[in-house]
Amino acid sequence: MTELEGPLEGFHNYIVDTFAPEDDALTSAREESKRAGLPEISISPSQGKLLHILARLAGARRILEVGTLGGYSAIWLARSLPIDGSMISLELDPHHADVARRNIERAGLSPQVEVRVGAAADSLQKMREAGEEVFDVIFIDADKDGYPKYLELCLPLLREGGLLLGDNTLPDAVLDASADSGTKRYNTTVAANSELTSVIVPALRSRGVDGLTISIKSGA
Ligand code: SAH
Ligand code: DHB
Ligand code: MG
Repeated sequence: MTELEGPLEGFHNYIVDTFAPEDDALTSAREESKRAGLPEISISPSQGKLLHILARLAGARRILEVGTLGGYSAIWLARSLPIDGSMISLELDPHHADVARRNIERAGLSPQVEVRVGAAADSLQKMREAGEEVFDVIFIDADKDGYPKYLELCLPLLREGGLLLGDNTLPDAVLDASADSGTKRYNTTVAANSELTSVIVPALRSRGVDGLTISIKSGA
C-alpha cells in the first residue's frame, strides 16, 4: 500500500491533528529538506510523537540514530532528552547531513545532537572499538538491507533494559516479493533473540501503513 485509503486517511489526520501538530522547527525541517532535494521519506508526525514518548519512557539520556536524512526524526527524539542528554545520528550522504545539521540548529538542538557522516556499519564498528558509552535508545532507519548488520553492531551499544527501535519493518517484511528482505530478517532475528522482548506496532503515515519494531533489551 503506497497511500492511505478509506477511513485510514481520516484516522491518520485525526491522530496528527489532535496529538502531533508540528511547530515551526518541524515544519521547516520538512520543507527545507524537500527544497534541498531530499526524498520525502521521513517518519510522520504521529510516529515522531510515538518515538518521543518511548524515549521519555526509557529515561533516555543518550540516543543513537542510524539514518538521519534531514533530521526530522532526530528532532522528535532529541526533544525527549534532558538538558545534559545527547544524541548521535549516523548518515551516509554528506548533503543529507548538511541539511540535517541546519534543521537541527533551527530547532535549537545543535548542542545535543551530533550528525556523523559515513557508512553506518563503519561508524558503528568505530564506536565499538573506541569504547563508546552505551545508549538508552537506538533507532534504526537507514538502508533496509543493512538492518540485520545494524542489529548485530547496535546490540552491544545498547544498555541492558534499553530500547531498540526499527522503522519500516511491516510492509516489506510481509508484501515484498523477495522472501529475504533485510527488514524481514531483522524481525525474525529480534523475535528469536532471548535477550530481547519485541513486537511490531503498526503505524499510519500519509504514504501508507508502516510498522515500528520495538524491542527491550531484557528477556521475557
Ligand atoms: N530517520 C529519518 C529518515 C531516514 S531515511 C527520518 O525519519 O527523518 C534513510 C537515510 O539513511 C537516508 O538519509 C540515507 O542516505 C541513509 N543511509 C542509506 N544508507 C546508509 C548507510 N549505509 N549508512 C548510513 N546511512 C545510510
Ligand atoms: C523509505 C521510507 C523510509 O521510512 C525509509 O527510512 C527509507 C525508505 C521508502 O519509502 O522508500
Ligand atoms: Mg524510515
